[in-house]
Amino acid sequence: MTSIRPAVPADVPRIAEVWESAWRDGHVGHIPDELLVHRQSDSFRTRAAEMVGRTHVAEVDGDIVGFVTLKGDELEQLFVAAPARGTGVARDLLADGARRLLAQGHARPWLAVVSGNARARHFYEREGWRDAGPLAYEAPIEGGTVTVPCRRYELILPR
Ligand SMILES: CC(C)(COP(=O)(O)OP(=O)(O)OC[C@H]1O[C@@H](n2cnc3c(N)ncnc32)[C@H](O)[C@@H]1OP(=O)(O)O)[C@@H](O)C(=O)NCCC(=O)NCCS
Repeated sequence: MTSIRPAVPADVPRIAEVWESAWRDGHVGHIPDELLVHRQSDSFRTRAAEMVGRTHVAEVDGDIVGFVTLKGDELEQLFVAAPARGTGVARDLLADGARRLLAQGHARPWLAVVSGNARARHFYEREGWRDAGPLAYEAPIEGGTVTVPCRRYELILPR
């Protein structure tokens, strides 16, 4: 059974593990090489620790299989481990993140998705998010950023 709960610091190693593996699945081949160089295991652990207070995790049978992180009005990170894809976990995490953003008063939640990440784009569109155009996303690295070609997606609520 899937449950979603706020992350705690003890979850950071598992979040980082899920994140690193899923990040590679969704991004390798679609991002500048410069960013790949900076996305070593340490960087996932460091950033997972920084984000833990803004993260909710999905557990199946006590194991963390995915997470969603918010930042302002942005749904910043959504990653699901390969064995849990296609099971509805991602849909539940996305709904959880969207619900929290709306509850915080953000009328038009948004997210960035790498342009070449076809599975994620199809998933967001299926779940009611709309492609609002190109976005040059500044991905943080130590001491700066790397520009990544992305699309901005916005949550369009039914009238
Ligand atoms: C993106 C992600 C969260 C989606 O979760 P998921 O459990 O895989 O999503 P689902 O299986 O419910 O939906 C995927 C949809 O994309 C479709 N799909 C699969 N591969 C595809 C591809 N290469 N191109 C287009 N659509 C694809 C599936 O058929 C399904 O659509 P359908 O229900 O209409 O048949 C998950 O795949 C993931 O974590 N990927 C790696 C990390 C990532 O890319 N994160 C997003 C960063 S913005």
